[in-house]
Amino acid sequence: MNNQRIFLKRAKALGYVAFSIVLLIAPSFCRAQAQNSEPNKASLVIRSEQPKGIINRNIQGQFAEHLGRLIYEGLWVGEDSSIPNTRGLRNDVVGALKELRIPVLRWPGGCFADEYHWRDGIGPRDKRPRRPNASWGGVDTNAFGTHEFMDLCEMLGAEPYINGNLGSGTPQEMMEWIEYMTSDSDSTLARLRRQNGRAKPWNVPYFAIGNESWGCGGEMRPEHYADEYRRYATFIKDYSGNHIQELAVGSHDDYYTWTEVLMAQAAKQMQGLSLHYYTLPTSNWAQKGSATEFGEKEWHATLVRTLRIEEFIQKHSAIMDKYDPQKRVGLMVDEWGTWYDPQPGKDLGALFQQNTLRDAVVAAINLNIFNQHSDRVQMANIAQMVNVLQAMVLTDKERMVLTPTYYVFKMYKVHQGATLIPIDLSAPEYKIDQASVPSVSASASRDKDGKLHLSIVNLDPNGSAEITTKVAGSTVEDITGEVLTASTMNAMNTFDNPNAVKPTAFSSYKIQASQVILRIPPKSVVMLELH
Ligand code: AHR
Repeated sequence: MNNQRIFLKRAKALGYVAFSIVLLIAPSFCRAQAQNSEPNKASLVIRSEQPKGIINRNIQGQFAEHLGRLIYEGLWVGEDSSIPNTRGLRNDVVGALKELRIPVLRWPGGCFADEYHWRDGIGPRDKRPRRPNASWGGVDTNAFGTHEFMDLCEMLGAEPYINGNLGSGTPQEMMEWIEYMTSDSDSTLARLRRQNGRAKPWNVPYFAIGNESWGCGGEMRPEHYADEYRRYATFIKDYSGNHIQELAVGSHDDYYTWTEVLMAQAAKQMQGLSLHYYTLPTSNWAQKGSATEFGEKEWHATLVRTLRIEEFIQKHSAIMDKYDPQKRVGLMVDEWGTWYDPQPGKDLGALFQQNTLRDAVVAAINLNIFNQHSDRVQMANIAQMVNVLQAMVLTDKERMVLTPTYYVFKMYKVHQGATLIPIDLSAPEYKIDQASVPSVSASASRDKDGKLHLSIVNLDPNGSAEITTKVAGSTVEDITGEVLTASTMNAMNTFDNPNAVKPTAFSSYKIQASQVILRIPPKSVVMLELH
């Protein structure tokens, strides 16, 4: 109580009074602090006088593959469904996703992209062929095809990112798909699109040539893929004022040779090169670890692994810098997120997994890292949007629940298209055995209206972080914000308890002359606006 009295004596700013009231009246908050009575002391300087480049809003992109219950049930239920829908797309899921202001949506895969033939998914639905989904099992009715995807993008306000089929398709098929979608001419394919219900051509800004061509997309060597990429890219044409950015299959993890070869041999023909990295608590694909049953050791190991993405981005970027010092070619992290063992009792091929506070922390750390590297990282697409891997939304027939990861994306949307503001952060390490991670991750940006936003993650599940924060060249008069946390590391939202992990107002700060003392709870994600 002594400390609280001293605090109260010195209280001047409204924020600080609020912080003190919380300390006095919220026993659960006090109990949480008691886990580690001494907070981790950190310092942060926000270099607002040295603004950097724009954080591409596409860093908060999403990915939707024909996999498990993502497309069918998760998004598409059909016009005759008893689940409320608009032209077959479920209203609850689309409504929730709209709130995220999704900038860009990648489709139809993933591995599925290299087996997808676009003509199967156009025309009257009852005439469309049913094909086995060779990558993920089951039969695809093709009820969801190009028109349905574009309708979804328009409902969400997201730009379409189409992933073309290099593995089992042809340059002609790819070329004709683009003509079908984007040509306003009197050609047979443009007429066919109109006949199928779409008069105006669509805008297709991003088109990838294959997916994971070093693996499920054809098991190619980088030299072979580079040649194939150049061949296919030659036939990607801009019709009727549409301008396509052509994206090449990039590397995964630390497969640097792939990046080296692609940049040396095909950089001129590409606007983007992808990178895939999944966070597995164990790094072992045969035994990845549970999505929900884990202790602090697994929590820590997951954070160690997710933070590795920064090293991969730095090293792939360094290779790209050699060939493209102007940073014309974007690094597109078009698959990232957590990947756990399938939930017992669920369809193994469906990649359904629950989502906990740990996933929220992983998402926030990754988004902070992408912001920091936004000079090269121009797009990132979390895998995947609904019911698959690190999803925003889970469904069970007519029911829907929003995940902790959903709320991180909702909180972080203020960074979209904002100017990156550099920060100097110094925080103690959070260690277990020999492994250690920084206990705090952060990033800052200034939006078009001049508002300064600061996202902070406390990785330590036991200790709060007391961060002495300064904004270089100015003073902070007020702070508003939200915090996402819960009492346990594996707290989650379920269909029966959908509001267990949700953001609440943040008030744990005090303003002292030219600095602000922030008290960030253990295992939390915080988004602040500094006035
Ligand atoms: O996201 C699931 C799968 O992971 C994708 O289809 C593939 O590209 C990656 O290996």
